[in-house]
Amino acid sequence: MQVPKFRSIFTAASKQERTNNFENYWLFTQHHNGELLEDDKDLVNKRAKFQFFQDNPVQLRTPLINPEALYRNYVAMQDDPKTLDRMTLMLTGMYKFARHEWVGIKGAWDVVPNMANSHSVEDKISRVHLAEEFCHVRLFDEMLRTCGLDKVEWVPLSPIKEKIYEQFPKFPGFLMDSPAFVTELMGVTYYCHLNRLIDELLVDEPEVQKRLKELLDEITIDEVAHVGQRRNFIGPIGIRISKWLVKPFYTLFFNDIPEVAKLFDVNQMIKDGEAFDFNHLPDYIIEKSWIPSYCKV
Ligand SMILES: [Fe+2]
Ligand SMILES: [Fe+2]
Repeated sequence: MQVPKFRSIFTAASKQERTNNFENYWLFTQHHNGELLEDDKDLVNKRAKFQFFQDNPVQLRTPLINPEALYRNYVAMQDDPKTLDRMTLMLTGMYKFARHEWVGIKGAWDVVPNMANSHSVEDKISRVHLAEEFCHVRLFDEMLRTCGLDKVEWVPLSPIKEKIYEQFPKFPGFLMDSPAFVTELMGVTYYCHLNRLIDELLVDEPEVQKRLKELLDEITIDEVAHVGQRRNFIGPIGIRISKWLVKPFYTLFFNDIPEVAKLFDVNQMIKDGEAFDFNHLPDYIIEKSWIPSYCKV
């Protein structure tokens, strides 16, 4: 049997280890992303990769059978999900997941310190983290375009829900760090399951299958790093609370996206979140991502 390379994400860490890991993450993220383009909510290396995808588009050999069904259901489900094909469900569900992320980061961008006013390494990391999330929305948009869906719009939530999302980053760390970490973990769990579904649903469309996975990989590499980074904010009590939060958090969030239960095994996703330890990720993701030192064997 192979010896595992990594420990559970819920592994304990001392204050000193966490301080050292923030320093190390800050070096990683600058190297990984290049310069922050704050006015554009963008990053130099990410922009270059995104440009490459746009300059080299691929298309479905056979267009989607029912794009109208997607446009009718992507913001809110209008039809009975049972009547929709799995490809449509995958794409509308993906949009809904990404839309939540987009709403969250829009709210946060205006309330967290900008780079000029970021004095601690944690503040700087958080600023770049948000810029990466904006890049993810662009990549998700490109995934939809790759499937021929060029009329998708990023629609804000209701004003009340938008306000709630705006309050979240203003909460003190001891309240906000565990939910923020579990949200990142949920992202990685979802992207791993989504990756397998892309494989399955696009067997007859090898070019688009490959491209969607490349786009998703760009996101997943960042999200795996975010999982470690957000974990690093959390002390010994908070990390126990976080593990306890996985089940209610995943359940609540995925209940809000009816596509998810139709396509994925939510109980397995919860188990994957609680057992998360980096060992099941492919090497090419691990090599480009970041893992806290205390999670390495
Ligand atoms: Fe993201
Ligand atoms: Fe993230």
